[in-house]
Amino acid sequence: MFLKKTIGSLAASAALLASSAFADDLPAIEIVGNKFFFSNNGSQFYMRGIAYQADTANATAGETINDPLADFSACSRDIPYLQQLDTNVIRVYAVNTSLDHSQCMQALNDAGIYVIADLSAPKTSINRDSPSWDLELYERYTSVVDMFANYTNVLGFFAGNEVTNNFTNTDASAFVKAAVRDTKQYIKNKNYREIPVGYSSNDDADTRVAIADYFACGDDDQKADFYGINMYEWCGNSNLQKSGYADRTKEFANLSIPLFFSEYGCNEVSPRPFTEVQALFGDQMTDVWSGGIVYLYFEEENHYGLVSIDGDDVKTLDDFNNYSKQIHSISPSIANTASYSPSSTSLSCPTSNKYWMASEDLPPTPNKDLCLCMDDANSCIVSDDVEEDDYQDLYGYVCGEIDCSGITGNGTTGKYGSYSFCSPKEKLNFVLNLYYQSKGGTKSNCDFSGSASLRSGTTRAGCASALKEIGSIGTNSATDSATYTGSAVSGSSTASASRSGSSSGSAKVTSSAKSGSSSSSASSSASSTSSSKKNSASNVSTNLFQVVLTAITTISVIAGVGFALV
Ligand SMILES: *[C@@H]1O[C@H](CO)[C@@H](O)[C@H](O)[C@H]1NC(C)=O
Ligand SMILES: *[C@@H]1O[C@H](CO)[C@@H](O)[C@H](O)[C@H]1NC(C)=O
Ligand SMILES: *[C@@H]1O[C@H](CO)[C@@H](O)[C@H](O)[C@H]1NC(C)=O
Ligand SMILES: *[C@@H]1O[C@H](CO)[C@@H](O)[C@H](O)[C@H]1NC(C)=O
Ligand SMILES: *[C@@H]1O[C@H](CO)[C@@H](O)[C@H](O)[C@H]1NC(C)=O
Ligand SMILES: *[C@@H]1O[C@H](CO)[C@@H](O)[C@H](O)[C@H]1NC(C)=O
Ligand SMILES: *[C@@H]1O[C@H](CO)[C@@H](O)[C@H](O)[C@H]1NC(C)=O
Ligand SMILES: *[C@@H]1O[C@H](CO)[C@@H](O)[C@H](O)[C@H]1NC(C)=O
Repeated sequence: MFLKKTIGSLAASAALLASSAFADDLPAIEIVGNKFFFSNNGSQFYMRGIAYQADTANATAGETINDPLADFSACSRDIPYLQQLDTNVIRVYAVNTSLDHSQCMQALNDAGIYVIADLSAPKTSINRDSPSWDLELYERYTSVVDMFANYTNVLGFFAGNEVTNNFTNTDASAFVKAAVRDTKQYIKNKNYREIPVGYSSNDDADTRVAIADYFACGDDDQKADFYGINMYEWCGNSNLQKSGYADRTKEFANLSIPLFFSEYGCNEVSPRPFTEVQALFGDQMTDVWSGGIVYLYFEEENHYGLVSIDGDDVKTLDDFNNYSKQIHSISPSIANTASYSPSSTSLSCPTSNKYWMASEDLPPTPNKDLCLCMDDANSCIVSDDVEEDDYQDLYGYVCGEIDCSGITGNGTTGKYGSYSFCSPKEKLNFVLNLYYQSKGGTKSNCDFSGSASLRSGTTRAGCASALKEIGSIGTNSATDSATYTGSAVSGSSTASASRSGSSSGSAKVTSSAKSGSSSSSASSSASSTSSSKKNSASNVSTNLFQVVLTAITTISVIAGVGFALV
């Protein structure tokens, strides 16, 4: 039994490898107006997609990623089934950049299948409850880009999935849009192919139009290249009117970037008839929508599977057969770049109201070198033996005494400290040092019950002008001319201050001396990206520091009388 299976899968692998050796790379997919096109012949590309990641539910818990593109025996087992469904795109939610993806990527290429990948991972994603766009996230996102940039069958990247999910957390979208901007810039800087970067949203009635406009508006170097909506409105045998699809199509008629269902397939009626497929690829929708991605290949507890898997065995379910019938009977009209001219190429940003409060001023681009400049210059620093868990107490005390707006950010006001993207330790050092300086620089003001100590801070070569321009509180932006040199731990060794601060219309950091997070509420609940209709993978971030910042005010009140490290 074991032997038979092994030989079987080896044979399958060999066949795939053999074909891969001869297969051409798929043509890249390009965007013009609100449509996708094959770059080789200008023919329009509609997504006939399937979400492809097992264990999406516990991916949110975040210990290990079950990377669907790193398991060749699994992807080669599944590709024939994806092909039976005429699949041309899969969506993956979290990849592990330590693993090799070349075999699955090649096999998918050979099967005519593109990949659209989320850049975040459960532990490294933008948290809607205390959003940030920091060095750690920047490094995660760019590492995924590095890993996948070379494959022409990468259709695009999602810079976030359901981060803002209702009107209470629209500020988080400013941080996601900064992630879109910086990922696009990174792709440019590295001379990679122009891989599109977009966003995947939930479908919330209060915010759905404003958030789409927010991501689609503005300068080319800031706006999302495409927009996905996780859509569960059509259940059972519905129709365009009853389901809401007709209204949605009207609402998004003017969106100037490609729009699609980044997940779909309501399962309130089971088996799913998938009659929405005819609507989605029919004339009443194809002007506005570019197809969609069925949730989900794998049958799991939430009962959204097309197949159930037992080891090497794949069993197709009723949903598989029903979807197959539908997807094989579509005949959408196909545009061509040669004759297509977009009806709208730009869009105004949404006006602010009580349901939409994200600022158009975005957080600065994370810049490691600038953080090194700042950190080396601090004389009062946290002791190495203080655990990161205890930083909260120190922030709480210090930020109750001094202005910490150099390290905080606010996506509603559009005010971001120039060091808001630095690491938790660098940021703590910055405020400890600021406290120490503000108390006159006496040794007793750099103790914090033994949690901090003095050293002689140094101004690195090339750092002086940037530090001076940003100012002691850390809220001014540095000019383009203030270049600085970091110690080149990773990334570029020289950077221009403009990249972290004032370039590309991004961080219009003001010099306001108002205290940063003075009215924030303490919240430690992580963001969950599951839509209202199902539990999907992804964006839970439990980054302690993000939580810490929103808790500052509360704690500083508690700690106000005197400081004691617990
Ligand atoms: C354009 O090229 C793609 C990819 O090779 C192919 O699938 C498609 O059928 C072509 N379209 C036309 C109209 O030739
Ligand atoms: C990624 O893969 C490496 C190597 O197998 C493993 O050590 C690590 O735990 C994985 N990370 C996640 C988040 O799954
Ligand atoms: C996810 O959880 C299931 C059971 O709850 C477990 O069998 C599986 O190994 C988990 N997957 C990962 C990648 O942790
Ligand atoms: C991408 O392809 C280029 C050219 O073939 C090659 O030089 C480079 O090493 C590749 N990069 C990665 C990350 O595979
Ligand atoms: C908004 O979303 C958050 C996070 O999912 C949730 O806790 C909160 O109840 C929602 N608020 C409203 C008004 O829907
Ligand atoms: C789309 O644009 C047209 C022409 O400018 C306008 O009349 C219409 O109201 C717009 N529709 C929406 C939903 O914004
Ligand atoms: C879906 O599958 C069920 C079970 O096979 C079948 O009875 C039903 O007719 C199918 N529905 C459609 C619309 O194909
Ligand atoms: C951002 O600023 C607004 C307006 O001052 C305030 O209401 C909100 O609580 C602030 N958000 C955070 C996270 O500090």
